[in-house]
Amino acid sequence: MRVYVESYGCQMNVADADLMRGVMHEAGIGPADGPGDADVILVNTCAVREHAEERVFGRLTQLLAYKHKNPNVLLGVTGCMAEHLKERILDRVPFMDLVVGPDAYRRLPDLVREAGFGDPRVDVRLDKDEVYDGLSRAPQAGGITGFVTVQRGCDKFCTFCVVPFTRGRERGVSPREVLRQVRAMAEAGYREVTLLGQTVNSYRYEEASFADLLRVVAQVPGIERIRFTSPYPVDFDDALITVLAEVPEVMPFVHLPVQSGADSVLDRMRRGHTIDEYRELVGKLRDRVPGLALSTDIIVGFSGETEAEFAATVALLEEIRYDSAFLFKYSERDLAKAAKALPDDVPESVKGQRLRQVIELQEATSRAVYASRVGAQVQVLVTGPSKKAPADLTGRARDFKTTIVRDSADRLSPGDRVTATVTGASGHTLIAEATGSTRARR
Ligand code: SAH
Ligand code: F3S
Repeated sequence: MRVYVESYGCQMNVADADLMRGVMHEAGIGPADGPGDADVILVNTCAVREHAEERVFGRLTQLLAYKHKNPNVLLGVTGCMAEHLKERILDRVPFMDLVVGPDAYRRLPDLVREAGFGDPRVDVRLDKDEVYDGLSRAPQAGGITGFVTVQRGCDKFCTFCVVPFTRGRERGVSPREVLRQVRAMAEAGYREVTLLGQTVNSYRYEEASFADLLRVVAQVPGIERIRFTSPYPVDFDDALITVLAEVPEVMPFVHLPVQSGADSVLDRMRRGHTIDEYRELVGKLRDRVPGLALSTDIIVGFSGETEAEFAATVALLEEIRYDSAFLFKYSERDLAKAAKALPDDVPESVKGQRLRQVIELQEATSRAVYASRVGAQVQVLVTGPSKKAPADLTGRARDFKTTIVRDSADRLSPGDRVTATVTGASGHTLIAEATGSTRARR
């Protein structure tokens, strides 16, 4: 048997899809190249916005074609949408075989076997202790950058958010297990690792804090770069800022979700901090971490958002000037607290207009920020050929900016770290010429 896993949503889902492939592999079910040659097709899903779920329903309907061709093919939904909708998914897409929540992946092979007898299998039990110790998939040959989940679940209960309900309670993965996975990646030739958690900096395992975890991961031989996502503003302590400032392997990039520029909205969202506190944190980070890049998440049109509150978000974007931002329209989620206590009362047309306004503003800011890098030197970890111009290479600068490296002499290969001079920029990409001399081949 062979399994194909397709993933939607956050980076943790990308890591979870790998975990599922690993669990299936252990059970003798190898990876398929695509849905066409798979016996089991799994769609790993996101429930954060309604739009994400609608996309998956569309995709599942397409994938049913493979079952029509071969009735023995099993089709399943995993992840947050499975947890959110449970057996209700079967009402929308009949003929589905598996509905499996984020804490049930250990049981996937058993569920697949049982589903083979014809009845759909639904396993959406949450398990406050499940961190999948020892179960990660073996690192892939040729990989350069990878994810390690260091924390599962979320305990913050922001009023707009479904994640605490779909991923359950917050729990840390032991430093021993994190190190085991990072070392395995380093031995397989990986050069960069991103530590993942919903509020990754609230990580705790016995005595170890997130700052402690970063320091030990930084000592793993072969790992040159460490990133993490996403930190929660309230839990961003000085110890973590010090690690960013002092540990050269920890990259100067922070994704710091703010959601809104108005204290009153942050209060309704129960984010637990004010804009002044956020501003102070950004100030400290920028003072202490040279070359720091910042990104954020913004929700427009949250319950009761007035023109003045929205204007405060616009003002914050203009003030902070993020390198990039993820911008969303509020989407009411039935399980989240806001759905019960706060009306979804900003008209769709107003949400759309506010979203367009912040997108336009952020695009202009990103273009200016990227353009300001022209002439600078960047260090790029090369990950592969550029999609648009395969003669060139692509990678990331230390501050996470995607960088195309012109390398006409064809000397670079994935895994190389190269110093390059920025010669051009768009709002999303830097273009750079390799200077060559400081290139470090593994
Ligand atoms: N702590 C998580 C957040 C997961 S959700 C992390 O690792 O980043 C990612 C982003 O989606 C949130 O920061 C928020 O901006 C957005 N989001 C969450 N719930 C939403 C909703 N109901 N409507 C619109 N956007 C939402
Ligand atoms: Fe969601 Fe807030 Fe947790 S955005 S994932 S409840 S930190």
